[in-house]
Amino acid sequence: MPRALLFYGNLLYTYKKMVPEIIPAIIAKNFSELKEKIKQVEPYVKWVQLDIMDGRFVPNTTWNNPKDLAQESFKVSLEAHLMINEPEKYVKDWIDAGIKRMIFHIEAVSLEVVQEIVAICREKKVQVGVAINPETPINSFDLGRLQPNLILILGVNPGFGGQEFKPEVVEKIRDLRETNPQLTIEVDGGMNPETAKMVVDAGANAIVAGSYIFGSKDIREAIAELKTI
Ligand code: DX5
Repeated sequence: MPRALLFYGNLLYTYKKMVPEIIPAIIAKNFSELKEKIKQVEPYVKWVQLDIMDGRFVPNTTWNNPKDLAQESFKVSLEAHLMINEPEKYVKDWIDAGIKRMIFHIEAVSLEVVQEIVAICREKKVQVGVAINPETPINSFDLGRLQPNLILILGVNPGFGGQEFKPEVVEKIRDLRETNPQLTIEVDGGMNPETAKMVVDAGANAIVAGSYIFGSKDIREAIAELKTI
């Protein structure tokens, strides 16, 4: 392989490792709010995270009707963060509605159900991620056997935006990165430039942010700030 190609390939790999993916998170009460918020961020990002809450797994309920989504097309790719019980019952609906990355909580499922969801995602050729709450240990499941595309580390107890990041989560990110150098590690909850730097330094490569982006005066600027931490 020509030396120049090798050089630029390494440069791109290093750049991608250094600049985290910024993924705006949307907690929407209804579909029109969701569409509005996607339009606000789609010029600046590749992925948007839809927070889906059932009022049972978390004490909050959001818009959560995949049929609405099936009627629309967006420029960005959508990932669904399912903060719901029995996610296995709904995964196919979300994928059929256009979700390209399914993320479910390890606390909501048994090992058999995890394998069922991973199999559905593989068959439907969408990415699959496992989300874990702050107090859930990393070794509570066999990452090697499940081979998810990503791990979503929650920096807050899920259910609401605008919460304070729990710094004890940083150690978990570091441990996860040390044993999984190629894994995509997203961090979600309490992300701002200061906490994003902490988690990227520990090995995270994607930042999921809601209130820092949507609560800002200038959405483009807020995303740029997170990118250049
Ligand atoms: C869990 C949700 C929130 C949201 C981001 O409650 O998943 O973490 O995405 O919320 P902020 O960025 O406002 O903490």
